[in-house]
Amino acid sequence: MKTLIVYTTKHGCTEKCVDKLKNGITGQVDVLNLKKSVKIDPNNYEIIIIGGSIHAGQIQKRVKRFCLNHLKLLTDKKIGLFICCMEDGETAANQFKEAFPEELMKHASAKGIFGGEFNFDKMNFIERLIVKKIAKIDKSVSNINEENITEFVKQITKLRDENNKK
Ligand SMILES: Cc1cc2nc3c(=O)[nH]c(=O)nc-3n(C[C@H](O)[C@H](O)[C@H](O)COP(=O)(O)O)c2cc1C
Repeated sequence: MKTLIVYTTKHGCTEKCVDKLKNGITGQVDVLNLKKSVKIDPNNYEIIIIGGSIHAGQIQKRVKRFCLNHLKLLTDKKIGLFICCMEDGETAANQFKEAFPEELMKHASAKGIFGGEFNFDKMNFIERLIVKKIAKIDKSVSNINEENITEFVKQITKLRDENNKK
């Protein structure tokens, strides 16, 4: 079974998580960064994982657009969905729910909230101000949730094993 991971990232945290997924999932795993204009046909994959990060409560428009443009195809495939964000608990869960179309959330076999990072070296002036004011944080911090990534990989592995038994 071939797996495609479709994602976008602002400061590199989602990309780090994609690398962890890629290392954890066995078999052929290809990645599609939606900011790069690489031509990959999602039709050629049995499992499609889609992820992005939350800024001001929203996932990137590119991720939303990809989901909407491929809704029919995605509901015919095995899919996994994830976000990176710094909120946790109910706020993170609500951000996750809002990030993807309801139909895909219901259809997804694997779901994950992977935590996030504030990377001050990569932020612009305005972003630094916002993070200082709202999150009350003034230096870089990493809260990537390795356990949730491991659990997500397990869910994807289970999907592959079930399919191999058929
Ligand atoms: C300007 C700014 C706004 C953010 N807004 C939110 C937010 O509304 N909710 C949240 O949970 N995290 C928020 N974050 C944290 C990001 O989701 C976090 O930095 C994430 O790891 C970014 O991933 P990326 O580097 O792949 O884009 C914000 C970060 C920045 C810099």
